[in-house]
Amino acid sequence: MRAYDVIKRKRDGDKLTSEEIEFLIKGYTAGEIPDYQMSAWAMAVFLQGMDSQETAKLTEVMAQSGDMIDLSPIEGVKVDKHSTGGVGDTTTLVLAPLVAACGAPVAKMSGRGLGHTGGTIDKLEAISGFETGLSRDKFIASVNQQGVAIAGQTGNLAPADKKLYALRDVTATVDSIPLIASSIMSKKIASGADGIVLDVKVGDGAFMKTYEESVDLAKTMVNIGKEVGRDTVAVVSDMDQPLGLAVGNALEVAEAIKTLKGEGPTDLTELSLTLGVQMLLLAGVVDDKEEARTMLEEAINDGSALEKLKEMIDNQGGNGSVVNNLDLLPQAENTVEVKAESSGYVEKIAAERVGVAALLLGAGRETKESEIDLAVGVELTSKVGAEIKKGDTLAVLHYNDEQRLVEAKEKLLAAYQIGSKKPEQNRLIHEIID
Ligand code: URA
Ligand code: CA
Repeated sequence: MRAYDVIKRKRDGDKLTSEEIEFLIKGYTAGEIPDYQMSAWAMAVFLQGMDSQETAKLTEVMAQSGDMIDLSPIEGVKVDKHSTGGVGDTTTLVLAPLVAACGAPVAKMSGRGLGHTGGTIDKLEAISGFETGLSRDKFIASVNQQGVAIAGQTGNLAPADKKLYALRDVTATVDSIPLIASSIMSKKIASGADGIVLDVKVGDGAFMKTYEESVDLAKTMVNIGKEVGRDTVAVVSDMDQPLGLAVGNALEVAEAIKTLKGEGPTDLTELSLTLGVQMLLLAGVVDDKEEARTMLEEAINDGSALEKLKEMIDNQGGNGSVVNNLDLLPQAENTVEVKAESSGYVEKIAAERVGVAALLLGAGRETKESEIDLAVGVELTSKVGAEIKKGDTLAVLHYNDEQRLVEAKEKLLAAYQIGSKKPEQNRLIHEIID
């Protein structure tokens, strides 16, 4: 078999065989097929697409290109949650303890933030002492004893995807649905979950800008799950504004704690409940949607979800008292209010710009090596639909370093689109695909 022929067949719109896909991915991972041939192939896929069998095969081969994590020593059905990436998306910190309090084991591996999107592992490090580098044994024992653990990704997960993703990033081939779907799913499959709940974002801050594309991506991933034997459900949710009010590490931990007390922002609460329902259903804790929702609401109302978070923090070396004392979180030295320059209705809040504003304040990483400031970030005071007057506060910036404050302020102001007509209420949950 020659890479040339596989590229040519895809270029001409043919369907590739499983053997051809395996040959290409294995050869590329091993360094036998060069970047230039793989780039040509990625562009051919971008232009010609792949059907569901090809996409599932690509996913499988990429998943098997490195470690396949075995979670079988954990009792019960392990359900993972994955978001395609948003700004201010604090749902993992809410969901992990919430779902665990309802009896579903949560063995969550998370990443760090890069660019304008945050990462759960960074957020957790805002809790003093919290240890995210768990050994495999400690990780498994924690889930079996406490019902929940969140750890940083270890090992060599889907190296084929890592290599291919870096190549796509510089060859204008990232935004291809089969390539995104197989990339995300390969990592989820390698991390060992039995069931996968996907939160597919749509809107300004998301990979997929239109509703049709996001539904297509969601269906493609659910299909891959079916083909490879992992129960997968996708929720398509809105990213035409950041989720919740807080964007920034410690600020988002505080927001998650408030949400677990039933005092969180409505959108974050609703999305957490919606995803939580799907997780409980996949885990087999209950088989009825209404019942699942009631369970989750009760775990918030009776304090057991918050208690579960405290247990998880204590177990991982952190100071669990933070759940009852938010002053224990790092606080920025200064705050400044960003005020509206005109009157009207907030029509849209460009999530990516808000993410960049937080990044400029030091909440995010410009490169993998950047140090982040856990205390800083953005707190939105007005969201889409709010009626505001010139001079009203739109958001509060929490900062330690004045250097890029002016730039951050400008970004934040530019994120707010203010118009004269009251916008229609944004739907938060667009669709659930199973
Ligand atoms: N996230 C991924 O992991 N892969 C993609 O291709 C796009 C987003
Ligand atoms: Ca938030």
